[in-house]
Amino acid sequence: MPEIRFSQSVSARLEDGVLVVTIDNPPVNALSAHVRSGLVAALDHAASLPAIAGVILTGAGSTFIGGADIKEFGKPPVEPMLPEVIDRIESFDKPVVSAVNGAALGGGCEIVLGCHGRIAGEKASFGLPEVKLGIVPGAGGTQRLPRLIGQVAAIDLIGTGRAVKAGEAVTLGLADGIATHPVVAAIALVHECAEKPLRRTGMIRVPPTDPAAVSAAEAKVLARARGQSAPAEAVRLVKAAGELNLRQGLAEERATFLRLRDSGESAALRHVFFAERAAGKVEGLDKVSPRKIVTVAVVGTGLMGSGIAVAALTSGHRVIALEQTQEAAASGRARIAETLDRTVRSGRLTADGRDDCLARLQTTAQAADLAKADLVIEAVFDDLEVKTDLFRRLDGIVTPGAILATNTSYLDPDAIAAATADPSRVVGLHFFSPANVMRLVEVVDCTKTSPDALASVLAFVKRLGKLPVVCGVTEGFIGNRIFSAYRREAEFMLEDGALPQEIDAALEAYGFPMGIFAVNDMAGLEIAWARRKRQAATRDPAARYVEIADRLCEAGRLGRKSGRGWYAYPHGERTIDPEVTAAIEAARAAKNITPRSFTPSEIMSRLLKAMVDEGTALIAEEIAARPGDIDLVMINGYGFPPHKGGPMFAAQQSKDPVS
Ligand code: 3HC
Repeated sequence: MPEIRFSQSVSARLEDGVLVVTIDNPPVNALSAHVRSGLVAALDHAASLPAIAGVILTGAGSTFIGGADIKEFGKPPVEPMLPEVIDRIESFDKPVVSAVNGAALGGGCEIVLGCHGRIAGEKASFGLPEVKLGIVPGAGGTQRLPRLIGQVAAIDLIGTGRAVKAGEAVTLGLADGIATHPVVAAIALVHECAEKPLRRTGMIRVPPTDPAAVSAAEAKVLARARGQSAPAEAVRLVKAAGELNLRQGLAEERATFLRLRDSGESAALRHVFFAERAAGKVEGLDKVSPRKIVTVAVVGTGLMGSGIAVAALTSGHRVIALEQTQEAAASGRARIAETLDRTVRSGRLTADGRDDCLARLQTTAQAADLAKADLVIEAVFDDLEVKTDLFRRLDGIVTPGAILATNTSYLDPDAIAAATADPSRVVGLHFFSPANVMRLVEVVDCTKTSPDALASVLAFVKRLGKLPVVCGVTEGFIGNRIFSAYRREAEFMLEDGALPQEIDAALEAYGFPMGIFAVNDMAGLEIAWARRKRQAATRDPAARYVEIADRLCEAGRLGRKSGRGWYAYPHGERTIDPEVTAAIEAARAAKNITPRSFTPSEIMSRLLKAMVDEGTALIAEEIAARPGDIDLVMINGYGFPPHKGGPMFAAQQSKDPVS
């Protein structure tokens, strides 16, 4: 059949009297202006020819439609707008059926909802992830989805942005069936639909729902919203679908969508979306084919090592976990099994999946077993001598092609690499704890790391389902350097007149889940104390140094696990401790500082400035490639609220980044 072209991205062919329309707008078939106009032209064509029984919409490649074209946001609107296209589909006289070959997200899912029938391919998924971009669906999603699947399920899907696979979509009533060849099944459905009145989603009444179930679904969404406004707005609109008629509901939805689209929150979350896609891209590296990493060795099975092992197992790798003794190897295996069990209990892994992971795990006390590894990740005690000794020994064990990675947080990975015969195969992989849960991995491109080794570990980290951010060698890498800088600023403010609880309250009001002093208490104060003692001899005596933390540590206040730190924890609850206030006042008095009061906004301005100054230095030193990388590290490793976009974004947006 000859192809009929309706726009640069929309074409069709006639099959069995049905116009099969394909959207081909790589990479994700986003609904750019030429897709929208092409769809309208295709409908016009189908309407004009009585021989055409109906229309099928499908996507080229592995995606159905990835949503509205986010790159068009903020640009002047180009007709036809998406709501009009979907109205046209829904009110079309002939059956329009979607053959969903891959992800139908956002506007793509809204197109599906506007169709009269929906066939899911085996790889199809459906979702309205708009809240993750700080917006609500803007082309009928909040009004049509509850009509099709009920308000409770719609609140869950739209409020969280969660996508469902084909099977769940059918169970929910979002798809009519699953087919190996969705276009073939959709053609049959068009002929079936032509026999009876068309089922137009917008005409369906929202099924009556138990108000208590709606409230429970709403509460669940709001509990996860963490200061973001889009989830609450999405819930409000889904509830409104039960009270307003379709036209009114669509108008209310569109107005909310446009308001949120132009908000700072959405700009920030869109920045995060694109920063995530840019992260891990290194100039020139796209020409390097990554090595296949099948077997991963993890040296050390403490909290970090076992977490890394679990991440590697659950992403399909073979894992060899090395310990110093058979007993330690057995406890390591038990720790990994326990973490896998917890993952099963949380619903993120099936029991069969856990058994499969355990079958791919070998625990050993024989270093020679590492000979089979494509990648070795060390997660042993963070001590230069321990790590260099290990890397020296690895030379004689692993194959020449194996990559060696250190998980050090503060040591110099170049010094560790120098202990090996071939430093070009050494990289840093700085995981965050717990490594099986936290998405961020700082990938350290050491001075002698080869492009091949770097490309291979970047591909490996992505396969783990994690977010790699590349950084150069510097003490603390990107995250801990910024953390140290803003911690220093926070301690300056203590001397100047603020109290830990005031600084923490300002950070928490800004959107951090926990303030910096509470975080330090949770992590323990002793590691930073040991570092300060190590650095004491080389510290610039003229530089401002705050001794309060040292005094607390000397008094045995090492954080939560010792029951006391920046706060007291009498019954496990964080409580202000007058002894800490007294220690701060004594430190001020010793330096003759007259304390002054700070507003929350002043506190945040100073902390953000400290983060941004350090971030700017990291870029100037070529440790970080782009400001977006710094934002991702702070959001994914240090609790920076994503809807503020990260410190570098916040600073760029406004002269007063606190607003
Ligand atoms: N608009 C424009 N570009 C998009 C896009 C979109 N909706 N979705 C993805 N892209 C771009 C990415 O920026 C990336 O570009 P790059 O190659 O230049 O870096 C490229 O497509 C590939 O993206 P991924 O790396 O994410 O590709 P994957 O294959 O891993 O994932 C996907 C594909 C699941 C579709 C994923 O890209 C995704 O989740 N996209 C966003 C989906 C979304 O949020 N849709 C809602 C949009 S808002 C909307 O529809 C409003 C409506 O209600 C009116």
